[in-house]
Amino acid sequence: MSDLLTGGDLRAREHHRIEDEARAAGPLHGVTLPNGVRVQVVTVGLDLTRKLLADLRLSKDSAALQREIKRQLAELGSTQTDLAGLFGPSMLNSDNPQHARLRALAVKAFNGKAVQELAPRIEEITAELIERLPVGEEIDLVDALAVPMPLHIIGEVLGVPEDDRARVRTLIETMMSMDPEVSQPASDELGGYFHTLLMSHALDESSLFGALVVADEDGDRLSHDELMAMAFLLVVAGHETSAGLIANVVHDALDNGLWAKAAADPGLVPVLVEETLRQNSPVRHATHRITTEPVEIGGVVVPQNTLLLINIGSAGRCPVAHEDAAQYRIDRPTTGHATFGHGPHFCLGSALARLETETVLRQLTARFPHTTYFGDEQPAVTHNDIMASLTSLPVVLRR
Ligand code: HEM
Repeated sequence: MSDLLTGGDLRAREHHRIEDEARAAGPLHGVTLPNGVRVQVVTVGLDLTRKLLADLRLSKDSAALQREIKRQLAELGSTQTDLAGLFGPSMLNSDNPQHARLRALAVKAFNGKAVQELAPRIEEITAELIERLPVGEEIDLVDALAVPMPLHIIGEVLGVPEDDRARVRTLIETMMSMDPEVSQPASDELGGYFHTLLMSHALDESSLFGALVVADEDGDRLSHDELMAMAFLLVVAGHETSAGLIANVVHDALDNGLWAKAAADPGLVPVLVEETLRQNSPVRHATHRITTEPVEIGGVVVPQNTLLLINIGSAGRCPVAHEDAAQYRIDRPTTGHATFGHGPHFCLGSALARLETETVLRQLTARFPHTTYFGDEQPAVTHNDIMASLTSLPVVLRR
């Protein structure tokens, strides 16, 4: 059962039951990831989840994480050796002072003001994509809208040329599969692509990549490895996550009979997005942490150098924090989740993700108030160690 916490052949919402049962059973669950690496998955209530996410004894240091993962892989005789794609020295994989320094370089591109300035472009790209969708016949909303919209936006913010975005998407999907036979070559190819792009000197300085390269050259502020790690992080974190949230909120609105309500009252749209974030986030676990000393978690002492994945998905459904926590409801306070993390690594893109998702749901419900879900059963989810995203979402758009 524990291994299902990080993957398996699951349908939408099935992982909720698995996580909630795990949380009720105890705080720690040993899991072997598909690449053979052993981690402890932490399933605790909302308060303790937040405390742990901000606990500096749970390190995010890239070198320490890579050392432990490589040690385990070597013991298994694995072919996977270069983990730079996912565990490079980015802000996500660093502790202070590096963390603060790296985060400061990117924060301006994603703060509230920057995101508000992106709003017209998000409206426009969403409308363009929706315009192309056939009405009255089955479409896959994941492929047609949920993935391409955030990919275009993050591509524009960062400076990834439009013609390259489809290739980048395919490489990321392959890299995230966790099968080293395919993920390693995809990670290498993506690394080569970012290297060429970032070194090309053809980047627009108004894009984030353009600005980071200049910062690198002028002030020696980013090493080559840091620049590459930043590129991997922002491209991966900036589209897969929002795509998953868009698909989930469309699914939840249809599945809970709230689509027509949202069409009639657009004020409900942010409420639906927040309830989906609380109850049905595509991001199930915070990213890998490693203990720098023995740490007590929910009465159990975890030894030093233990890899941890903190389950943030079930923290939002913690029964202590929420009455009727497993139910999808739009009449509850909307602040009780840890879906964007907590503490120093709190998600840099939360405002962008919310705005993108609200824009899609508002435009879709307004234009197609009689949309229906097409499948006979709940759609399948693709689950890796961090995320559980709908593989496809068959819907029929109706005016
Ligand atoms: C539904 C959408 C999203 C969810 C649920 C989400 C969730 C998270 C979570 C849980 C973390 C903390 C990870 C940890 O502590 O281990 C995080 C960090 C981060 N997220 Fe997001 N994210 C989303 C969208 C985005 C977007 C659109 C961006 C675009 C830039 C982004 C960029 C980042 C970055 C850069 C970090 C690392 C921050 C740091 O280490 O200081 N995320 N996100």
